[in-house]
Amino acid sequence: MEAVVGLLIMLLGVSLGAETFCDGRRDGVQCFGALGGTVVLQLMDNASEIPRYDWRKNGTRILNGRKKYFLINTMETRSVFIPSNGTFLINNLIRTDGGQYTLRLQDSDGRQTGKQTLQLFIQAPVSSVLLVSECLSEGQMKVSCSSEGGDSPQYSWTLDGNTLTDSELLSGTTETNIIILKQNLSGRLVCSVRNHISRVSNETILTTCDGKTFCDGRRDGVQCFGALGGTVVLQLMDNTSEIHRYLWNKDGTIILYGRKNTIIINTMKTRSVFIPSNGTFLINNLIRTDGGQYTLKLQDSDGRQTAERTLQLFIQAPVSSVLLVSECLSEGQMCMCRSSEGGDSPQYSWTLDGNTLTDSELLSGTNETNIIILKQNLSGRLVCSVRNHISCVSNELMISVCRDVL
Ligand SMILES: *[C@@H]1O[C@H](CO)[C@@H](O)[C@H](O)[C@H]1NC(C)=O
Ligand SMILES: *[C@@H]1O[C@H](CO)[C@@H](O)[C@H](O)[C@H]1NC(C)=O
Repeated sequence: MEAVVGLLIMLLGVSLGAETFCDGRRDGVQCFGALGGTVVLQLMDNASEIPRYDWRKNGTRILNGRKKYFLINTMETRSVFIPSNGTFLINNLIRTDGGQYTLRLQDSDGRQTGKQTLQLFIQAPVSSVLLVSECLSEGQMKVSCSSEGGDSPQYSWTLDGNTLTDSELLSGTTETNIIILKQNLSGRLVCSVRNHISRVSNETILTTCDGKTFCDGRRDGVQCFGALGGTVVLQLMDNTSEIHRYLWNKDGTIILYGRKNTIIINTMKTRSVFIPSNGTFLINNLIRTDGGQYTLKLQDSDGRQTAERTLQLFIQAPVSSVLLVSECLSEGQMCMCRSSEGGDSPQYSWTLDGNTLTDSELLSGTNETNIIILKQNLSGRLVCSVRNHISCVSNELMISVCRDVL
């Protein structure tokens, strides 16, 4: 009975730092643990089937046992061995826990029946990620992603959820921390930094270097987004000098009519510019009613239609600021995130100490609701991000463990 009590106390003492699991039952496995966190190493199956076992780190004995009775555990102040499932748990990991561990199994006559090694690597978790963008002379954008903490960081980039491709990159790759993007890209750019024990990301909404949103409407059915009061650049076609006639309607009403390089009608002239040489249509001072379905028809010299495509333009008010409050309830800590002004179709996401919230931390709500209740005993840097298609704003709060709530 005493052994059981001891075990419970040790388990309660486990820090709330990151916990990693590693199945070390094959020879040559690589395991990773978070500095300050906990690693659970599965060394064998039920130890009560094994007459003798001996586990050493770089030659120094750590654990020695017979069946379910382990005789020696030299790391006992920071570790627990559970014979019934052969797991060895180490708390408060330090750098020098890294190294090569060798397990030897013996039969009751002392003959070796098995030997396996595992390599344990201790890494500091990535704690935060900073994204900085800078416009270069030709309108290309240099974006650098830097991380704090984090041993051996590995970078990756996505734009609107897709890995960046060479056609979007002028320099760098999807795995470097500094990239140069080609002109006129838009969307949600995310940089993720990970190592074996953590993953943190940060994001930004790309606009062109002069703050406009760009949309390539040269395919049929594209969705474009513009900021209320801002400017959108719609690429409708390539150079018009080869196009005999083009007609662009919004919800059935004519906006633009032209022949090759000559613009015959532009009913939005006061707020827009059409550039025939590259087929872009720029609308300033966007208003709600600019949203809608636009249809482009191209004709040949005989007036026959050669192409037709539509694009849907959505006008959104940007998220301007985010308010984050928390309150201790008897069951846990309630946190509420609200975009304080404007912000159409806000989407929410949360991180705690850089990691996306998981169900094991949430009593109610999800990583995408604006109100959540965190389980008790959680603390750290809580960040709520609010985004829509044209903006992204976040706010953070240091939360501490709630005490004495009735
Ligand atoms: C091993 O047993 C302990 C105590 O019963 C349990 O908490 C743990 O989840 C088990 N681990 C595995 C890998 O089965
Ligand atoms: C189109 O041409 C204008 C004027 O030369 C230029 O400012 C703009 O960047 C060009 N847009 C694209 C998509 O090439």
